[in-house]
Amino acid sequence: MNAKEAYETLIIKVKKLSYILSARSLLAWDQRTYMPRKAIEFRSKQFSAFAEYEHRFITSEEFAKLLSKAEEGNWPKDSHERMNLFWLRRAHDRMVKIPLDLQLRLVRKSAETEVIWREAKRKEDATLILPHLSEIVSLKREVARHLGYSDEPYDALLDSYEPGLKAKEVERIFYKIKGEILRLLRKVRNSSKKAPVHLIHGHFPAETQREFNLFILKSIGYDLEAGRLDETTHPFAIRVTPKDVRITTRYKENDITDAIFSTLHEMGHALYNSNLPEEWFGEPVGSAASLSIHESQSRFWENIVGRSFSFWKVFYPFLRAFFPYFWEVSLEDFVFAINGIKPSFIRIEADELTYNLHIVLRFELERALINGELDVKDLPDRWDEKFKELFGIEPRKPSEGFLQDIHWYSGSFGYFPTYTLGNIIAAQLLAKMIQEMDLYELIERGEFKPIVEWLKDRVHRHGSLFLTSELVEKATGEPLNPTHLIGYLSQKVETFYG
Ligand code: CO
Repeated sequence: MNAKEAYETLIIKVKKLSYILSARSLLAWDQRTYMPRKAIEFRSKQFSAFAEYEHRFITSEEFAKLLSKAEEGNWPKDSHERMNLFWLRRAHDRMVKIPLDLQLRLVRKSAETEVIWREAKRKEDATLILPHLSEIVSLKREVARHLGYSDEPYDALLDSYEPGLKAKEVERIFYKIKGEILRLLRKVRNSSKKAPVHLIHGHFPAETQREFNLFILKSIGYDLEAGRLDETTHPFAIRVTPKDVRITTRYKENDITDAIFSTLHEMGHALYNSNLPEEWFGEPVGSAASLSIHESQSRFWENIVGRSFSFWKVFYPFLRAFFPYFWEVSLEDFVFAINGIKPSFIRIEADELTYNLHIVLRFELERALINGELDVKDLPDRWDEKFKELFGIEPRKPSEGFLQDIHWYSGSFGYFPTYTLGNIIAAQLLAKMIQEMDLYELIERGEFKPIVEWLKDRVHRHGSLFLTSELVEKATGEPLNPTHLIGYLSQKVETFYG
């Protein structure tokens, strides 16, 4: 067998595995939407079985042999084949390094802790969850030890979500934006203007909200015949196959904007998922490039498009048709209300500016937990202290503080930074897009197709043919640059609070 034959054999096998594993996505969707409560125990075992199957395949001798043989080929740099082999080598090496037993313990422990977290959050009971979180942190530290790192254990986990990215680099970028955001926040505090947030609160039946959200999705071009919109407490997007990309949202009957922005956010993820090259489905290069690139797509639609004046020039008449209440609210007041800036406890409810401070806080804490500089038992107090430092207010209960997000309790450490990196990339894409097209005029005319096509051409169609930093540079002509986000946020503050 020569290198080319080995490559082809390997890809056929990998594709077949992907088809089997795509059923796992459907089970995950089901678990978070309609699964009966008592099904959790066996569902966890189903996930363990999938994990074990995948592990055996990727660590098998046959896989290793085919991979080594295929790597002998003279594949050109940046070629499709070479990147497929890069991702497969990475998956193989990472799995070989972590003992199967440890991986399975982690899958089981995470599934269990996720359930206990829900209860602890509901009961506002920190003591219920801390021992379990402590176990997760030590399992993750063990994982980091097996994966290896040169500077600090946290790097090994960060690399799982952002291949090649180091904590020191994140620290450098975050340090820069933290200072600028605190400066802008002072400007907002000193302004006499206040967002008329009370105007967007009223009574909005969930059923009508659902219709309005579906209307927005259709207008922008999300294909409801290749997807679905369901309801969950924590909205998410998931790709089962290229023609089955589902999203969820949530309806708050007293606040109409919550669902709209959740829907736009998840739609951004979904558009990326469905514009990935269909013919590459099941191959490593057919996946999204990284979590931060994914998040740049969701933030682009949620914030840059969804909170713009232009967007509401189109959709406000329809909002009024669905909810006559808004005849009493001017378009200008509505747009200011959805762009209001005010420090608050909950990350997913935060405004565009302070959102990034929530991420800085989590990054610093999870880095300290994984590097062994912070004990889990001290987490609740440390959270509140740091929160007060950044936001000037202190959480009154665990659900407003360290218990609010699912990430750590489901075993995700190193994930949070990707949210703010996503904001940075979204603003950088915006800067480039504005140079090349009349973005806001298109939005005002309700013409979303050219915008989706631009994102498809620059980002989506490349799958994971490039790493984050390369893809950003290819799409925008410059390396990752946080000044675009600062520029975008400064302009926002100036517009509403200047
Ligand atoms: Co997202």
